[in-house]
Amino acid sequence: MKIYSHPFSTEEPLSRGSLALYLLSDEPVPSHLPGENTLRMAELLLKDPSFKGKKGKIVRIPLEGEGVSSLYLVGLGERKGYSEENVRSRTAELLRRCRSDGTERITLILPEKPDGEMSSAVAEGAELGRYSFDRYKSVREEDRLPETKEVILAGGDDAGLEKGKLLGCAQNWARDLANEPGNVHNPLTLADLALKWGEDFGFSVEVWDEKRIASEGMGGLYAVGMGSATPPRLVHMIWKPEGTALRKIALVGKGITFDSGGLNLKPGDFIRTMKGDKSGACNIFAILRGVSKMKIPCEVHGIVALAENMPGGRAFRPDDILRMHNGKTVEVDNTDAEGRLVLADALSYASNLAPDGIIDMATLTGACVVALGTNMGGLFASSDELAEGILSAAARRGERFWRMPLDDERITETLKSPVADLVNAAGRYGGAIFAAQFLREFVKEGIPWAHLDIAGVDFFKDEYSVCCKGASGYAVRTCLEYLLGCR
Ligand code: BES
Ligand code: MN
Ligand code: ZN
Repeated sequence: MKIYSHPFSTEEPLSRGSLALYLLSDEPVPSHLPGENTLRMAELLLKDPSFKGKKGKIVRIPLEGEGVSSLYLVGLGERKGYSEENVRSRTAELLRRCRSDGTERITLILPEKPDGEMSSAVAEGAELGRYSFDRYKSVREEDRLPETKEVILAGGDDAGLEKGKLLGCAQNWARDLANEPGNVHNPLTLADLALKWGEDFGFSVEVWDEKRIASEGMGGLYAVGMGSATPPRLVHMIWKPEGTALRKIALVGKGITFDSGGLNLKPGDFIRTMKGDKSGACNIFAILRGVSKMKIPCEVHGIVALAENMPGGRAFRPDDILRMHNGKTVEVDNTDAEGRLVLADALSYASNLAPDGIIDMATLTGACVVALGTNMGGLFASSDELAEGILSAAARRGERFWRMPLDDERITETLKSPVADLVNAAGRYGGAIFAAQFLREFVKEGIPWAHLDIAGVDFFKDEYSVCCKGASGYAVRTCLEYLLGCR
């Protein structure tokens, strides 16, 4: 899909495709619109109770004759709610509508000339809204409507559009990977994909097989991976900018390609959608691809722990005691608390690179979903500066994270095992905090570290705003935005 700009005020009516007018409910229709007809119609509908410019309302009017083939009116609500996030969401909704209408080309006109950031928001919304995961649907060719091929923003800022398009595309790459089921993507296929992307997009990649994982002392990743017929992999990707890098950042992702729970098998209701348990890893792959496209001036390391958590004959068991990469021992209370085990090894490995910061992302705990719901991720951070950096990047991109505590002494007590240094689970209460404090044991003192628990936001049941059904790619844009501003 092409996204580009067109002069804001134009005499000439646009010659083909559709036109979308974004309207505020408490302001008159702007006078810079092309054509008498469209202006009159927009004025009428702005008064009509069915539309009135209400936030989230989209009306389509087919037009006869020359020029524009249909007119979309997009309600933004009141002026005081006019924001980048509002426009981003409405644009995504509009593009979903275009997809179901078969609208191939659409020109967008905002209430005022969009600046760089507003243009980015439009491009993000357009990319995210057009997305669907339908490659396995065998619809007959003649039933297929044409795809939206061109989005034109009147008065848009080209650099802003380019940035937004890249951010949206990166999130869609992550969605595409995470939407693939466990019979398609497993640790081996994802490791191969990383190698290919490294070659295609210009970052280096090293892959460790299960023997190397064991010999390097990654007892957590090894144990979790061994219950599956497909062995685990550790992937280390490195982006190095030309010249001297400003900072060195390590990104760590949980890549459980399917989480059955292992011997502590998940019940039916909870096992469904566990193909999404690789979302953290998929995000990191997409971010590395985005980082190399944007040529970010920082050195970025992507470390991904890939395993399938299955109850096979070589599966790890409750009561097992594992020796981890940093030498600490862990007693297994529950094989379904596998994410923290694979991440622990990856975080210890990342610490040895001596980065200026570590950010991990993981679909880690059901408890985080209970705490924060499905519209907000959990943020845990050992550094206020890093936490604030991530929160402000998230706000600029319209993603939501809520900072959670990492210093609960009572929870620290429950991390202790009678037979090992740590235990991997201890009951339900405070589960997200427990998991984060468990991870902290594997990050070297002094390295600023942030942990994003994306269990509630990685997979959506319905579509709204920029969210599509299925894998969301949540946190990709926040992380890229953070890296863009990282000095
Ligand atoms: N992958 C799950 C967490 C999860 C739950 C992600 C719901 C997305 C949606 C994780 O591996 C898990 O099973 N965690 C357990 C931990 C418990 C056994 C201590 C949980 O949250 O129930
Ligand atoms: Mn689990
Ligand atoms: Zn899991």
